[in-house]
Amino acid sequence: MIYLADTANIEELKELFNYLPIEGVTTNPTIVKNSGKTLSKIIPEIQQYIGDKMLHVQVISQTAEEMIKEAKIYRDYFDMKSNYFVKIPVTKEGFKAIKMAKDADMKVTATAIFTQQQAMFAANAGADYVAPYVNRLDNIVSHGIDVVSDIVKTFQINNSKCQVLAASFKNLDQVYRVSMVGCQAMTASHEVLMSIVNHPMTDKSVLDFESDSEGVYDINLTQQ
Ligand code: G3P
Repeated sequence: MIYLADTANIEELKELFNYLPIEGVTTNPTIVKNSGKTLSKIIPEIQQYIGDKMLHVQVISQTAEEMIKEAKIYRDYFDMKSNYFVKIPVTKEGFKAIKMAKDADMKVTATAIFTQQQAMFAANAGADYVAPYVNRLDNIVSHGIDVVSDIVKTFQINNSKCQVLAASFKNLDQVYRVSMVGCQAMTASHEVLMSIVNHPMTDKSVLDFESDSEGVYDINLTQQ
């Protein structure tokens, strides 16, 4: 499973890409709003940190034709077009737009997925990724992990090329569970991703090793 950052906060992205094996960035209107910058400003800024990794940008239009117009405008913001994935919500117009975006040679992430059947439709329309919302499902007393698991299995049974990019996480247990059902990708906030890194037992072990190394690790790094 690969990990993406669900944030447009530049300080967070700097840290994540500097230290961790992060394979891309996902955004939506809320995430762009939280960055405090406009979309046309933030997309070029994010590109400075991602190298050849993915950047997913969501459309807001209501009709398929306008979604595609919008998607083409965002594509023009990209120096490296191959970085660009258009995120399309799975409304009726969205399903039509997914097919149109594929015909226009764009990579597509179908987003705001809450059921296995929405995912199947999106895959059949040509989406490269589907993004089921794990925590939002859990919050409505559904089971995000079960929906992700069903989608993964359905794609396997149907030999679908579409991959599952699980989204909407609030804790590490949800991340652990999606990774155990064969989900190919996940995207989460800086906070959730950093909680994979920070572990008090790791910190304690490192401190203990450091103290035991004194006097027996006879190396001098300043001589290198
Ligand atoms: O990528 C979709 C995601 O941003 C939704 O997450 O945390 O707002 O439910 P959340």
